[in-house]
Order: sequence, then C-alpha cells, then structure tokens
Amino acid sequence: MIARNKASLDLNGAKIFKAMLDEDAQKSLVMTLRDVVAQAPFFHPVTRSGKQMSVQMTSAGRLGWVSDRRGYRYEARHPDGAPWPDIPKAVRDVWRSVSDVEREPDCCLINFYREGAKMGMHQDRDEGDYSYPVVSISLGDDALFRIGGPERRGRTQSTWLQSGDVLVMGGAARLAYHGVDRLRFGSSGLLKDHGRINLTLRVVDTS
Ligand code: SIN
Ligand code: MN
Repeated sequence: MIARNKASLDLNGAKIFKAMLDEDAQKSLVMTLRDVVAQAPFFHPVTRSGKQMSVQMTSAGRLGWVSDRRGYRYEARHPDGAPWPDIPKAVRDVWRSVSDVEREPDCCLINFYREGAKMGMHQDRDEGDYSYPVVSISLGDDALFRIGGPERRGRTQSTWLQSGDVLVMGGAARLAYHGVDRLRFGSSGLLKDHGRINLTLRVVDTS
C-alpha cells in the first residue's frame, strides 16, 4: 500500500513522507526493479576527472542520467546502447501522489548503495526546468541523508531515510545541496544481500 498522508517531516524545505510504502509495496517494488535492472544493468559511473563513484546506477524512463569522462548528462540510451526500460507504474503512482504536477517524470534514476557507498554533497541541476520537483524513494538499509540550501557552504540538517520513505525536493529546496553520508549496512532485510536502493524521479526535457 502507498499511504497518501501529509508529509511528516520538513528538512530545510524538503518534505519527507515517512513510511509511505508499506512492506508489501516495498517488496513488490523490488521485484519490479529486478526486471528493470535485468534490462538495464547497474554500472559504476565515473566523474569527469575519472574517479569512480561508490554508488552504482542505472535508469528507467525516456532519459537516463550518465556520467563519464565527458561529464554529467541525460542520455536516451544505457551505456550498452539499449533504450532504458519504462518507469514502473508503482513508481509513477508515488510521483503522482506527492509531486503536485500533472507531468510525468522523464527519468527514474536508480542508485544502488553497497556497503561503504556514499554520495557527496551535490545539487540536481542537469534538468531543464527546476520548477518541477525531484521525488526520491528509499528502499533497503537506512541512509544518513544530509541537506543544506542552494549554497554549498550553507547550514545542513541530517536525517536517517528508511525503507519506504519518500522525500520531495521542490520549491526552495529544489536546488538544495544534498548527499548521503553513510548507510547503516544490514539494518533492513528487504534486499537479499542488504544495501540500499534509491529511486529519484525527475522531469528533464521541457523543450
Ligand atoms: C541522489 O541525490 O541522487 C540520491 C539521494 C539518495 O540516495 O537518497
Ligand atoms: Mn541528487
């Protein structure tokens, strides 16, 4: 079940819907994601400077996010050349209930955190129109999520995102710096070998 309650937490303007997906919804989403990942396998993006990210990624949707020596961008195809699979309906349902916009997302970025993986502070700013929010769904192990403001040096706040939580970065929080400091590896039994999956939904192409 996807609970359609009000946001239960506000973190520097980002809204958090705690436990929006119950255990059955989380399990069924993981099964669906297995099919997506079978079509579009996880890969380790590298930064422009050639540094490998600790998080593995893939995407679903019309466009997927990639990073390599040419930099960050959205592409219509997986690095292996195939188009990205469709965004699963259950994921689009979450978008529809929290985003407050009519438009469907173009991209569902799928991040996979194994033990020790983290994500440095960054803004999501490769999209065409920042009036659309970014919606994030957490599955698996707890993650210490940190969010600041639109300036890199701003004051930050942290919270543990848990499996089934949904976070919305919109309005003033759309360009907030954010990242994941660490996982509580093994804290959730949802994924067979533990770790964490994070889905982020984005409207990319508004041309
Ligand atoms: C991201 O910023 O792409 C991911 C955030 C998260 O894993 O919670
Ligand atoms: Mn991000």
